[in-house]
Amino acid sequence: MSISKIQYDGIVAAVVNPTDDAGAEFLEKAFLLWDKTGAIEYFSAEPPALDRLNGRNMLVREHAIAMPGLIDLHTHLPQYEFAAQGADALLPWLERYTYPQEARFADETVAIAQSENFFRHALAAGTTTVVAYLAPHAPAAKIAFESAAASGLRAYLGPSLMDRAVPESLVTATRTAEELLQSLAAAYHKRNRCELVVTPRFALSCSPEMLKMCGDFSRKNNLFLQTHISENTDEVAAALKMFPQSESYAEIYDKHGCLHQKTLLGHGVHLTPDELALIRERQSVVVHCPTSNAFLGSGIMPWRKYHENHMRTGLGTDVAAGTSLSMLAEARAMTEVAKLRAHFMKENAKVNVTSALWQATRGNALALGRSDLGRFAVGNCADLIVLDDKLAETVTHGARNNYDTLPERLQRVIYRTHPNMVSMALVDGGVVFARGA
Ligand code: GUN
Ligand code: FE
Repeated sequence: MSISKIQYDGIVAAVVNPTDDAGAEFLEKAFLLWDKTGAIEYFSAEPPALDRLNGRNMLVREHAIAMPGLIDLHTHLPQYEFAAQGADALLPWLERYTYPQEARFADETVAIAQSENFFRHALAAGTTTVVAYLAPHAPAAKIAFESAAASGLRAYLGPSLMDRAVPESLVTATRTAEELLQSLAAAYHKRNRCELVVTPRFALSCSPEMLKMCGDFSRKNNLFLQTHISENTDEVAAALKMFPQSESYAEIYDKHGCLHQKTLLGHGVHLTPDELALIRERQSVVVHCPTSNAFLGSGIMPWRKYHENHMRTGLGTDVAAGTSLSMLAEARAMTEVAKLRAHFMKENAKVNVTSALWQATRGNALALGRSDLGRFAVGNCADLIVLDDKLAETVTHGARNNYDTLPERLQRVIYRTHPNMVSMALVDGGVVFARGA
């Protein structure tokens, strides 16, 4: 479903297009055309031949920046309502805020209202692909898939599976969890731009049987698996106590078949060199969640170090420990926490704005195995956002900013980001969000 009746098949605007982990193309004026299927058919600073433009409905934006849609690789749908509440460390925060909130999703009216609100806000923040944990209840999971499909964004979703050490109302037995995964896969997987993600919440809330079922199910059905790892030092100690046969947190997941190429591991702040080697060998992705780690005081993931060690990395908002659904704000946090880490750890850990933007778009696309997303190129999907970067301006009322090249404007977009900065979002060339519409 598209929120706008107007269909476009191209755009003329300034473009920032991530190229690799340290760079981007900056085009003051670029032409991007897509075909009826939503695939990019032309991308250049040179205008296309006139006959290619004939009959097209082009979106023309003089004072705006277009860039590939943002991809959020780790967040929690049922937690959005309480973002920015409470700042205990992870384990008391889960008990005090998170579990009671997720229990509210047993009520379908809560699940409907909160799911619609979540996807609306994700799109308004410029996220065109989201990977999210859901509440554990079967009706709430179905509602989330249907709400995602109605919103038009790409969604990788899975109910958070837990069978121990959480309130009874959040528990799903392993057999029931497997049946739920089967029915969700049949109804929603690879339909309406949605995918099912097998989601054992984390080692502390899962029995060995649950982890094994999740590992097996994800491998057998070629599904993504998402979980949390080594976010907080108390959590690491508790996990090792619960699984005394394993030498490390990563080994717990590995022993149960949960570490593979389609595994997304949230946080990974305190991983040991042996764990990093194991995760790299399994080609799993470690997802950086900087605002969340700052909010809960969990630590600072050494993104630069992992990246240079050829680990696969990602970036996610991790709402509600993360404080907003904005991947622009997350990119900013990624650069800021890297500077703190560089200072305190005396490391060369810096992350510049283009690296952060790459991770929030192209890097996250590659983590999802989606080489057709996160970068403008012929043949890729026309998933894009339009940014009204005047909202980040320091000079107004007719004067001209002396720092006005596109790289300088991008600096303001990231460091002075504004909640209304995304004016439009398109997925497969169709408008899924238009501010004020
Ligand atoms: N570890 C297990 N569950 C969660 C969660 O909901 N949020 C965060 N930040 N960490 C977790
Ligand atoms: Fe999380």
